[in-house]
Amino acid sequence: MSQYPEIELNYRNMEPPFCWKDIFGNSAPVEIEVGFGKCGFLIHLAAQFPTINFLGIEKSRKYYQKGLKKVQHANLRNVKLLWGEAAHILQRYIKDASVAMLYVNFPDPWPKKKHAKRRLLNADFAAIAARKLVFDGCIEIATDIEAYAHEAMNVFDTCAEYEKLYYRTNGHAEPLRLSRTEYEEDFLRQGKTLHYAKYQKRCGNV
Ligand SMILES: C[S@@+](CC[C@H](N)C(=O)[O-])C[C@H]1O[C@@H](n2cnc3c(N)ncnc32)[C@H](O)[C@@H]1O
Repeated sequence: MSQYPEIELNYRNMEPPFCWKDIFGNSAPVEIEVGFGKCGFLIHLAAQFPTINFLGIEKSRKYYQKGLKKVQHANLRNVKLLWGEAAHILQRYIKDASVAMLYVNFPDPWPKKKHAKRRLLNADFAAIAARKLVFDGCIEIATDIEAYAHEAMNVFDTCAEYEKLYYRTNGHAEPLRLSRTEYEEDFLRQGKTLHYAKYQKRCGNV
């Protein structure tokens, strides 16, 4: 029995695809953060936007458990957390054209060439995300690694389903960030240049 039945989304007991209305009890738009880490971004965003539903997906058990505690402490009714691998969850459990927004904040960069295949932001992920987003839905990407930002943008730029809304660095124009992650706060304190890109799913594609 879960200690956090109101927050945990135990997909292992559920038939795909998810029905958001059953899960959240309303028909509000759903936004997803992939790899929420210490969960600050999601909690702050959910507190600002109580009429939006948020799902956090995290593959680390340790961060997932910490996230559950924090969301409970924040007393938010519009947040659910799921422990699992994001690409698999999106592909197998999430209904096509049912997600308003996807956030991928500071994904593991896997800097060694031999580990490059492990990077989350690749062509397969871009295609899965495009299927799951509603028309006009967006994916927002943030990273501190310039090469990874350009590699990811290459993928999304060549994917016909998307239109690029912006690419910015914090060194040029302050990006429109509604919330910040723990990694982001740390990097900003260190004076690092951060890279932000946002893509919108074009109308006419599912
Ligand atoms: C570098 S940390 C960034 C954490 C947080 N987004 C932040 O900016 O503070 C990357 C996080 O993504 C999680 N993660 C990496 N790959 C993932 C995947 N495929 N599915 C779900 N979570 C993932 C890791 O466990 C880790 O918590």
